[in-house]
Amino acid sequence: MEAYPKLPSELTKSNFNKIVNARNKLRESDSFYDLAIFNKKGIFVGNVAVMEVSRGISQTAFLGYKIFNNHWRQGYGKESVQAIIDIGFKDIKLHRLEAGIEPTNIRSIKLAKSLGMRREGIKKRSLFLRNEWVDLVMYSLTTEDLGIKFNSSDLVHKKRM
Ligand SMILES: CC(C)(COP(=O)(O)OP(=O)(O)OC[C@H]1O[C@@H](n2cnc3c(N)ncnc32)[C@H](O)[C@@H]1OP(=O)(O)O)[C@@H](O)C(=O)NCCC(=O)NCCS
Repeated sequence: MEAYPKLPSELTKSNFNKIVNARNKLRESDSFYDLAIFNKKGIFVGNVAVMEVSRGISQTAFLGYKIFNNHWRQGYGKESVQAIIDIGFKDIKLHRLEAGIEPTNIRSIKLAKSLGMRREGIKKRSLFLRNEWVDLVMYSLTTEDLGIKFNSSDLVHKKRM
């Protein structure tokens, strides 16, 4: 996946196009779907994603979300994560969405709870961050939680590229 530019000199139209093209390919391959979030003034405030889509008998993906800290506590997190959850279930036709959150990330845990996500336990040593394996606390939603029926005919099969 293309990394976001970090330096002002890297903020070029050509780098932007590379990122958009890479994201489009991931979307076409049914593996990663993201949204850039803009506020009413047109300012880019963060992004949300459905990541690592797994099909077959799982139909599961992970949620990713980030609001830039100068825009925290204005409701953008809740509104935009709710939007990608709706897309995940209704458009991408997933059965389960999971958020893996570091236990110290109180803001993210509060957000997950406020969206009705269920705490399912600790997934030990899940991610290699800051040079160590860290635990994640897992929050989840399934279609049943939202009263959406999921039949065998709803199973989406991975497209072959
Ligand atoms: C977690 C995260 C997405 C939350 O984003 P956010 O935009 O601040 O979330 P919201 O504004 O919807 O909600 C946060 C709080 O603001 C409050 N809030 C919402 N609108 C508000 C407003 N207009 N004025 C004051 N407070 C407001 C909410 O009630 C909530 O309060 P609480 O934490 O006391 O319950 C953000 O902190 C973030 O990006 N963190 C870093 C990345 C990260 O951790 N991602 C998740 C990895 S698992």
